[in-house]
Amino acid sequence: MNNFIFENTTKTIFGEGCVKEYLTCLLRHYGENVMLAYGGGSIRDNGIYNQVMESLAKAGKKVTEFSGIMPNPTYKKVLEGARTARENKIDFILGVGGGSVMDCCKAIAMAAVYGGDIWEEFFARPGIMEFDPIPIGVVVTAAGTGSEMNGAAVITNEKLKIKTGRDYPKCNPKFALMDPVYTYSVPKRRMVSGGFDTLSHIMEIYFSRPNEDNVSDDMAEALMRGVIRDLRAAVQNPQDYTARSNLMWEATMAENRILKLGKQTDFMCNQMEHQLGAYMDCIHGEGVAVLQPVYCRHICRDDLSKFQRFAVNVWKLPANGKSEEELALEGVDTLADFIREIGLPATLREIGADEDTDLRQIAESCNISAGGGRQMAHREIFEIFRECY
Ligand code: NZQ
Repeated sequence: MNNFIFENTTKTIFGEGCVKEYLTCLLRHYGENVMLAYGGGSIRDNGIYNQVMESLAKAGKKVTEFSGIMPNPTYKKVLEGARTARENKIDFILGVGGGSVMDCCKAIAMAAVYGGDIWEEFFARPGIMEFDPIPIGVVVTAAGTGSEMNGAAVITNEKLKIKTGRDYPKCNPKFALMDPVYTYSVPKRRMVSGGFDTLSHIMEIYFSRPNEDNVSDDMAEALMRGVIRDLRAAVQNPQDYTARSNLMWEATMAENRILKLGKQTDFMCNQMEHQLGAYMDCIHGEGVAVLQPVYCRHICRDDLSKFQRFAVNVWKLPANGKSEEELALEGVDTLADFIREIGLPATLREIGADEDTDLRQIAESCNISAGGGRQMAHREIFEIFRECY
């Protein structure tokens, strides 16, 4: 294990009925003016909006609504939210939605109180946050990103065509309410992309140094087997509470920093996808589903014993006298088959790329991480994009 310091300040309340039971009481700790932030309106269709409003009313809050947070939230939307928060003297932001809403709320919470340009000082490069953002709380409606229990926000600067994420612990939600039943209405396409996002996060941690036996890798294998099992079950029956509740907590566990302890982490695949998202506005989990097997084939030979371990311990493939390389590659092929099995795309064309998409330019704009089996170069990222096309 590498050295680490661990802290997670989000109070997490999980289970059916938790919003009705706890939200009013949790809100009492914060000021009167609450900004209710949400997305395109699914919470009005599935009844979550009414439940949350009821709790806000019981807590005696003055509510300012901020809606229309789009998937892949933009910096423009963040600035709009910050203006709304300042004009209404917001004391607390309550985000109700999936990763996009939660991420946007964190960035709004920063931008509303910071005098300068948060993109320049905290997103374009890592910054040191010496101020306190507006406190936020979240009601999770879609599982996948794990944003509910960390300080990370992924924002797209649409002018610069850069999508990037930073994790500032001061942006951790004060509380996260997680009712798995709230995720039942997530459309299947979004449900599987969220689930795959979780699997991808775990893989990005697992396939990074150190590789010697360690607690994080053992936990990662158990979580990966769980995500695979639970995604299969949720595809069969979207209202399978066991599967949906497991998927929700697996997503949180992948990104609440516990799994990362003692590991360098990679996140190259997620960063490649972020740039595809910046140019193509595609669904994040679908983008990583396209890239992950191809990326794995590129780095597999640099990390053969770990990929063999992945094949045996996660996919339960029999060794049967196969060489380390054969088994490692079979594990990656099995991952690719699973992606197809649950209905995710396997090519960039399926997620919106066409002959006008400048894959070279997108590759050149990718941030490069150092944590995986081998460090990528922009030229190799371009090759990966072409293979995915
Ligand atoms: O806009 P609304 O009405 O909320 O509808 C959303 C949206 O259209 C819908 N949805 C959410 N809950 C629903 C529902 N529809 C019906 N019933 C419900 N209960 O689902 C659509 C997608 O929502 P979104 O929040 O965009 O999905 P997701 O949770 O996958 O978040 C994706 C964003 O998070 C970023 C991604 O890059 C992307 O911008 N990520 C954030 C990370 C983090 N903070 O740590 C890490 C991730 O890897 C990822 O990069």
